[in-house]
Amino acid sequence: MEGQSHRQASSHLLDESSTSADWIDYMVWNSEHQNPVPWDSEYRITLEERKAISKSIAIFQLGESGEGRHFINQARKLSVNSADLEYAEAARLFIAEEQRHSWLLSRFMEKQEIPRLRSHWSDRFFRGLRKCLNLEVCIAVLITGEILARYYYAALRDATDSPVLRAICDQILQDEEKHIFFQGGTLGRIRRHRSPWSLAACDEFQRVLFAGALCVVWKDHARAYRKAGVGFRKYIAESWGYLEDAIQVIRASQSFASEQEGLRVTRVEAQGASC
Ligand SMILES: [Fe+2]
Ligand SMILES: [Fe+2]
Repeated sequence: MEGQSHRQASSHLLDESSTSADWIDYMVWNSEHQNPVPWDSEYRITLEERKAISKSIAIFQLGESGEGRHFINQARKLSVNSADLEYAEAARLFIAEEQRHSWLLSRFMEKQEIPRLRSHWSDRFFRGLRKCLNLEVCIAVLITGEILARYYYAALRDATDSPVLRAICDQILQDEEKHIFFQGGTLGRIRRHRSPWSLAACDEFQRVLFAGALCVVWKDHARAYRKAGVGFRKYIAESWGYLEDAIQVIRASQSFASEQEGLRVTRVEAQGASC
């Protein structure tokens, strides 16, 4: 029954037609139906695992911990300007999910005596990039992180025998996959009036951003990927596949939003003509 209700929530949201209210329902539901983590496990990570994953986890834990103040402020503005008042709440719940990821990782790190990082240059760089720019670019940066995370947590799960860390990775993976649809949906709505040329430019911008981020992530996390049996070529090829999937999500959301806008305009014109 539990599994069935999870599948229902999951399938409902893998859709470009999901509204902010649908996302709120899902995220509230998700916070109450987290996968169990076997915190009582006595497993201690081996020296080999520690060398491969400890700094890598600390960097991701730091990256997941942000309060997202700039994003939430920008989301509030979009909420008001687009009369989608529920979007601001959905954005707040999204940040709460990311902070839950940070909390899960930090609890694991504490159990395994892995020190936390206070600061890291890649975290400062991506936070700075998000803060400087508008909501569209902020989300383009965020979705880059979601796509990278989707591949990273799968590799991290394969890099360890810790039942605790494997369960955490499963939960985060499940969430990050949804986040791509959440962020892709918003990008699609923001871009609903764009020309084909402008949309193609957006896709290229996303690819350039992602290519840079791929190099940055490999530099700091290669040992964790290698421990999972993922070499550089495989890392690039498979991550790029996820990027192209995400671009398709954004495109499908843009088409849907553009169609809805067309229907809305037609309705308003028809009402005007009948008055
Ligand atoms: Fe996350
Ligand atoms: Fe995420």
